[in-house]
Amino acid sequence: MKILAIETSCDDTAIALIEASGTTSAPKFKVLKSIISSQIEVHRPWGGVVPNLAKREHIKNLPKIFDKLKIKGEKLKIDAICVTVGPGLEPALWAGITFAEEIYKKLKTENKKMKLIGINHLEGHLYSFLLSQKTKTSISNSQFSNKTKNNFPAIALIVSGGHTILLHMQSPIKWKKLGETKDDAVGESFDKVAKMLGFPYPGGPEIQRLAEKGNVNAIRFPRPMIGSKDYNFSYSGLKTSVLYYLRDNAKTKKEDVAASFQEAALDVLIKKTERAAREYGVKSIFLSGGVAANKELRKKLTVLSSKLKINFIAPPMDFNTDNAVMIAVAGYMSMLRKKNKKLIANGNMGI
Ligand code: KG4
Ligand code: ZN
Repeated sequence: MKILAIETSCDDTAIALIEASGTTSAPKFKVLKSIISSQIEVHRPWGGVVPNLAKREHIKNLPKIFDKLKIKGEKLKIDAICVTVGPGLEPALWAGITFAEEIYKKLKTENKKMKLIGINHLEGHLYSFLLSQKTKTSISNSQFSNKTKNNFPAIALIVSGGHTILLHMQSPIKWKKLGETKDDAVGESFDKVAKMLGFPYPGGPEIQRLAEKGNVNAIRFPRPMIGSKDYNFSYSGLKTSVLYYLRDNAKTKKEDVAASFQEAALDVLIKKTERAAREYGVKSIFLSGGVAANKELRKKLTVLSSKLKINFIAPPMDFNTDNAVMIAVAGYMSMLRKKNKKLIANGNMGI
């Protein structure tokens, strides 16, 4: 089936068109188009994403990138429209939902059986592990074929600007949340520390770049909740200790601060993922979300997985940060699971 997906939960306006087939244990995807229009420059002067500005930009961008999907002279024949309904910024989510409803009305005349369904953004990140077996390199013609049987049970770590979640996945359609952050998300702490060091939003890539030239042992920052018996996280204390350190040690090299902070932030993720992987005796670790783009995190999880003799699966770079392909993939899986969300924006939707 052909699926059109729309993602507007934060500051990226994204649309994708994919072809999906197969079952929940052997799904196949072909990415026909993936377009992302970033609003980073619009929000940069404000130091973070402004919800109403994001909404305005989405409303402006959606028709433009939707037009780019169409091949001249051809009618867009699709079987389902999937749109992110939460979690995220509600004004931004509504922009996507309203646009999806408009095109649904127009395209329904071509295909009376066409569906319009709401998708959980976190399920999008979660299911992006299905985009890891890349068989072709060009994004305009990427094909992914999965035989998921050997990957389960698994531990999934979702790390983004808004979330830090650890899940136990028994199968591609059944999971249990083990823990999550009690305050800031790990990506948010990267963004805030980058800001303290004088770098613009989003700060994750800047911290990674600086950290490559710094000493991870230069400063011993705290590892909040690393020894707690649960699978929860906390990143607000780490951010505050970087703030105090910079106040008292203004002359320290930025590279060392970035490297020591990154090491502390990743240490907690690795320790908790390792403990969960051992406790549940899993066959794989899945990594997703914007912070999954972090090279050091990918390296540490690769090392951990080979130590545990299990698989490490992360999507290719294009599909870590927000995109609509992952929403289309989650849409296909939710249609197979017959679990669709209402078309109402819900900023705090959980997983
Ligand atoms: O998934 P995403 O695009 O949006 C949310 O759903 O939040 O994640 C964005 C987050 C930002 O906090 C950004 O700083 C972080 O992902 N990020 C990184 C890297 N690239 C993006 N964090 C660490 N290292 C990176 N290379
Ligand atoms: Zn996201």
